[in-house]
Amino acid sequence: MSSPRTSDVLVIGGGIIGLVTAWRAAQRGLATAVADPEPGGGAAQVAAGMLAAVTELHYGEQTLLGLNLASARRYPDFAAELTELTGLDVGYRRCGTLAVALDADDRTHLRELHALQRQSGLESEWLSGRECRRLEPMLAPGVRGGLRADGDHQVDPRRLAGALTAACERAGVVFHRTWAERLTVAAGRATGAVLRDGTTAAAEQTVLAGGSLSGRLAGVPQDVLPAVRPVKGQVLRLAVPARCAPFLSRTVRAVVRGSHVYLVPRENGELVVGATSEELGWDTTVTAGGVYELLRDAHELVPGITELPLTETRAGLRPGSLDNAPLLGPTELPGLLLATGHYRNGVLLTPVTGDAMAEVLVTGELPDEARPFSPRRFGAAALMEQPA
Ligand code: GLY
Repeated sequence: MSSPRTSDVLVIGGGIIGLVTAWRAAQRGLATAVADPEPGGGAAQVAAGMLAAVTELHYGEQTLLGLNLASARRYPDFAAELTELTGLDVGYRRCGTLAVALDADDRTHLRELHALQRQSGLESEWLSGRECRRLEPMLAPGVRGGLRADGDHQVDPRRLAGALTAACERAGVVFHRTWAERLTVAAGRATGAVLRDGTTAAAEQTVLAGGSLSGRLAGVPQDVLPAVRPVKGQVLRLAVPARCAPFLSRTVRAVVRGSHVYLVPRENGELVVGATSEELGWDTTVTAGGVYELLRDAHELVPGITELPLTETRAGLRPGSLDNAPLLGPTELPGLLLATGHYRNGVLLTPVTGDAMAEVLVTGELPDEARPFSPRRFGAAALMEQPA
């Protein structure tokens, strides 16, 4: 049995990606530790939790689509397993999504998305404005049409983070509730980390899962430091009083004047409205302009939101890689692996990331679906250029 300061695996970062990696590794028999002052914190505390493989499809992202779909398929069993183990509900809701168009430009954009979805073998149905409003009566009369994607569901990332923390505890994961200050390297191999409390956490394998901070860990050689940038998202939370329920029965989203806006209704009455996308470094200020734009765009879709109490405003940082796809698996530094760079898809990709990372930690090989996301895909281009 290893001492609490020595483990098979040290995961640096206890957001949902770090936690799922630690949990799955521990389930495979590896003595695992997590270094994070606040496990379960990070972007999951802000994210809306859309599982939007179909409605967030983009040109040129066919390989990522495969990983997104693989993860979406695992969600029902993943959520059920977490609930069975911990007694905690993660808010997985098979609600579907409706992406709508407010003007002719939006409609053209959605028609193109529909064509791409069909070419990609995805299921979605084109609806007229009237059909959209029949499904969701709170939609604005001006909605010109929409795409119904019954396979894009949601989970509550805050509950998910809580359940993953509990699952890790039950699986015997050791928590070092402090920051990892510096990776330790000896004889050309990563050996763990020095923690902010001055102690050392030694490990056979170290997984860097620090979200948008992953590129900032001291001690990581420059040629393996991941090029991950923070992409700010401001998100609002509103409350739907019982007398107004059901307000929306599924996620409703649109692109308004080039910006994504989505409304994600939870079963408990919370309505999450997101999200801005801002490349401003490590700034997490909630701004009047961000809140204004989200409310303005959401109001154009669903005018009735102005009646709802605004309960929370918050900003988080998405970890964006050079190609906005995740970085999974071994680096060129033996003993150092990455699980970061999930950008807009961290919540969706949580189940498949846990499985892939556990597999590579145990066997040294990534499973087929994760191989295209090896950090080695960038070669020399992965040399870190830190955002200012
Ligand atoms: N996937 C939604 C977002 O990143 O805003």
